[in-house]
This record gives sequence, structure tokens and C-alpha cells, in this order.
Amino acid sequence: MREDSLLSSTIENEEELSLRPRDLDEFIGQAKVKNRLRISLEAATKEGRPLDHVLFSGPPGLGKTTLASIIAAEKGVAIRVTSGPALERPGDLAAILSNLQPQDVFFIDEIHRLPRAVEEILYPAMEDFQLDVVLGKGPTAQSIRIDLPRFTLVGATTRKGKVTAPLRDRFGIEEKLDFYEPDELAVIIRRSAEIINVKIDEAAAELISVRSRRTPRIANRLLARVRDYAVARASGFIELSVAEEALTVFEVDDLGLDKVDRAILLAIIDRFSGGPVGLSTLSIAVAEEPETVEDAYEPFLLQSGLIKRTPQGRVATEHAYAHLGIERPETPQGTLL
Ligand SMILES: Nc1ncnc2c1ncn2[C@@H]1O[C@H](COP(=O)(O)OP(=O)(O)O)[C@@H](O)[C@H]1O
Ligand SMILES: [Mg+2]
Repeated sequence: MREDSLLSSTIENEEELSLRPRDLDEFIGQAKVKNRLRISLEAATKEGRPLDHVLFSGPPGLGKTTLASIIAAEKGVAIRVTSGPALERPGDLAAILSNLQPQDVFFIDEIHRLPRAVEEILYPAMEDFQLDVVLGKGPTAQSIRIDLPRFTLVGATTRKGKVTAPLRDRFGIEEKLDFYEPDELAVIIRRSAEIINVKIDEAAAELISVRSRRTPRIANRLLARVRDYAVARASGFIELSVAEEALTVFEVDDLGLDKVDRAILLAIIDRFSGGPVGLSTLSIAVAEEPETVEDAYEPFLLQSGLIKRTPQGRVATEHAYAHLGIERPETPQGTLL
């Protein structure tokens, strides 16, 4: 797999890379998405054409980048990896596009952050496999069209709502990735344990699986930290008690919330009387970027029923108070619950 070096955000460490499933069979869960992709891949291969352009959306860590590389692997083609913010000028995009081989996968992570001018040259490239290049400046400027090889664009976004309509319309396949079930994460954890060469028992794998915020990336990260603890403070074997101790040390609570998750809940409850509080105010209170709070933290808090979004802002639910062991005021001010 070729990767652009400027894209540090899409480059993982070696251990993480080794855990990445290489084909659809190794990819756990998301059964419907997998089935549909398999059908489209088979059809494209049978007819000797590239797969239609694919847009993956969903919270971070659910497998969007993994699926992009699986598509390339299943198709037996190369993948070029870049991201919306890295494509600063139209020329950056033109350089990559004109170097693709037929049927290659071109992966753009965070595609909702593509600059406008770049997005505009992507339209004819996606639709007609043509690149419009402007030569020269001013009244003598000339526009020429260059034929591109037929390629597959795979886009990934944590924010489908921020992908412009004309761009979205040009994807033939759109798939939203959902949070995983704990039993699926337990399978991922056992597979990863084998790869990183650590022994783990069923109960410990299950414990980590329910504390992984229903996210494979977090499952793998927790496993790695629990492994550290097992190696440094126990026999190296991950049994239930070792996993429990490790997760306490790393401040992952019984819902899988980490320090930032809890800071968000505490801020809503303590500093804003349970809410509603606007995203930007809340983000300042927990010293995180609004985009990070909204894309990385809120989806799981919403899905767990710990917060709600109202037109006035975020509100902490009864469940959040109970989880943090804080008594809820009799008449919570401004609450809509
Ligand atoms: N379905 C899955 N089965 C096994 N491992 C997975 C799966 N989805 C994701 N992972 C693991 O989680 C990590 C994060 O996935 P990634 O594709 O980078 O997520 P995203 O691009 O959506 O943020 C990967 O390195 C991979 O090891
Ligand atoms: Mg990714």
C-alpha cells in the first residue's frame, strides 16, 4: 500500500497496521455492508471494470480506512491514500490523478474537508475520468482536458452532512458504518491478541469488548494497554482480574468512558446545570476542538443515551447523572427531559 508521507493522521504505528484486516473475510461485523460490497466487487471484477466510487461515513475507528484498503486488495490494485485537508491546491489532486493506474483505488480521508477549488476538479474526474487543466493566466489562459485512467474513488467522512450535494451525488455506493456489538468486538480482540502474541481468556476479552465504546480501534488500543499491564505487573497472561485492574489504571470506566467522555458529562452537569449547553461553549469547557467533541465523543455518548441534543444545545440525561453518581436536582433548570 502506498501512502503519502504528509498524511500523518492516516498513518498508524506498525502494531496498528498489523491488526488491520486484509480482506473482507477478516473484516468482522458490518455484515450488510460487507455483503453489498462483495456483490459490487464481484460484478466489477467479472466485467473487468473498476468498482463504482464509494463513500464511507461514520464515527472514527469503525473501519472506513480499513475497508478502502480491503477494496483495493480484493480488486488486486494499488491504493493511493490522501486526505481532504492535504489536497490544498487543484494541482495536488491533478498530480495524484494523472499518476493512477487503471482500476486503482484513490482514497480521500476526511473528504468533507476538501477545499472548494479542489472539489470542483474532482467532479469531471469522477464522472467522466477527465481532468481539466488550465494553462497560463489571464486572457491567454487555455483549458485543456486530459483523459484519466478509470479509477475508484473511495471517500471517508465522519460528517456526511458536510459533504456537498454535488460531491455526494457522484458516489455510486454510499455506506454508513455503525457501532459494533460487544460480541463482534470480542472476536476482534481475540484475533488481535493472537497477532500481538498475548494470551487472553474469554472473560477478559468480553470485559474489554464491553468497554471499547463499541469501536474496533478502541478495542485494539485497550487490548494493547491491558497487554502492557499484564506484562509489567502480572505474568503476561490476560485473565479477567488483570484486565479489570488494567482498565482501572487506564481510567476506562464500566461503560468504557474515558477521561474526556467523563469531562464532557461533568461539564454539562456541573458547570451548565445539566444543560442545554452549546457545542462551542462545551468544547471550551473541556479544552477540546468542537469538531473533536462532535465527531469523536458525542456519537457514542448519544448512542449510549448519556446526552441528548436539543435545538438549544446538549443536555445530560438521567442516565448520565446515575452513571457519575451525581444526584439530579429536583427541577433541573432549562431541561427538556
Ligand atoms: N471490522 C473490523 N474488524 C477487525 N478490525 C477492525 C475492523 N474495523 C476496524 N478495525 C480495526 O480498527 C482500526 C481502526 O479502523 P479504521 O479503518 O482506521 O477506522 P476509521 O478509518 O473508520 O477511523 C484498524 O486499524 C483495524 O485494526
Ligand atoms: Mg480512517
